[in-house]
Amino acid sequence: MVWKDGFCFRLDDETKMIQQTARSFAEKKVLPLAAKIDAEHYFPKELIPELGNLGFMGAVVPEEYGGTNLPILTYALIVEELAAACASTSIIVSAHNSLCLSPIVHFGTTEQKEKFLPQLATGAHIGCFALSEPGTGSDAAALSCTVKKKNGEYVIQGTKNWITNAPVSDVCILFAMMEPEKGNKGICAFVHEMNLPGITVGKKEEKLGICGSPTASITYDDVKLGKEHLLGGELEGFKVAMHTLNGGRIGVAAQAVGIARAALRDALEYAKERKTFGKPIVAHQSIQNYLADMVTRVDAARYLTLGAAAMKDRGEDYSRQAAMAKLFASEAAMEAGVKGVQIHGGYGYVREYPAERHMRDAKITEIYEGTSEIQRLVIAARLASE
Ligand code: CAA
Repeated sequence: MVWKDGFCFRLDDETKMIQQTARSFAEKKVLPLAAKIDAEHYFPKELIPELGNLGFMGAVVPEEYGGTNLPILTYALIVEELAAACASTSIIVSAHNSLCLSPIVHFGTTEQKEKFLPQLATGAHIGCFALSEPGTGSDAAALSCTVKKKNGEYVIQGTKNWITNAPVSDVCILFAMMEPEKGNKGICAFVHEMNLPGITVGKKEEKLGICGSPTASITYDDVKLGKEHLLGGELEGFKVAMHTLNGGRIGVAAQAVGIARAALRDALEYAKERKTFGKPIVAHQSIQNYLADMVTRVDAARYLTLGAAAMKDRGEDYSRQAAMAKLFASEAAMEAGVKGVQIHGGYGYVREYPAERHMRDAKITEIYEGTSEIQRLVIAARLASE
């Protein structure tokens, strides 16, 4: 099926060309691997250099550091295309760009940018973001991973959980608590290499969905970081985290749009082929209602996502719009996943068809980079202060 975008955004020629490149790569190279990536929990390492050559691994990085410096709107379109083929691949790219490269670009010193960005921008190195902990997710300021200053060094002790890309990462953005009595104003952010003494990456988590995106804990045992690792100023870590997560939420929203689109695409194709009561099920009103809801929510989710991206590109405060996009798109993806399975009937419940994969992949978009409950909290807080 040829995908027709329900666009009221007028994309310029360059953006359309990049979107087309992403779509063609996703359909030819990523989609054929998607079932294997899911079933074997396979990290698609062969795709990384190609994603690097296309400029997608350095989408948010300025050209002087080897990136393609794309507008966030273009970046969102790329993530959507990748997600429509394979949700795992899309989050590998999105977590790398939004959560690791972006904070280095925005808060890094010239030395940090020169040191880390060139290899990250090509995909030679992969990045991750270590905020959550075994006992801390939504309450991002309640960190128990500590940093203590000793002889001019920062000494890190503690464990980070659910870290996307951790098993394949070379570089990490770390958040640790320096002055607990100050709450969210007591946190420091760091950028560090993953091969430092005292760092251990835990076993790969067995997940419900996005099975090819490797997730693990990272334990820091007396890890010594220098001043050159501090990202942003001392005690400015929470600001780095919030700023980064605002951008990350556009990436997850775009991923959710792609997953919802995949669920719709496969359900529509099936509904045209499958016959009951003497006609294709697409001619039955119940199925039509499902499909109509799915496509409406896919397009609405895309508008919210691209709207937030356009605001970020214009340098406006987009935090409420990013949270709204993520909230709506992730719920649209989950609903599309469930309806896609329902349309497939029994075939939706078996691994032979991709419908159940979309449903499993969609769930995480309601959880990571801020749960739906946290997005509602952010939206309401921003609304009250605007
Ligand atoms: N953007 C910018 N600033 C923000 C902000 C946002 N979205 N949210 C809060 N802030 C600012 C506030 O304005 C406030 O600033 P001032 O001190 O200057 O007034 C400051 O941050 C503190 O705000 P709160 O008092 O509201 O802070 P809080 O401690 O009560 O927590 C929260 C607020 C929004 C719930 C925050 O804890 C949060 O975002 N939690 C969710 C964390 C999250 O998304 N985790 C996902 C982990 S990453 C991941 O998923 C990893 C992966 O690998 C994919």
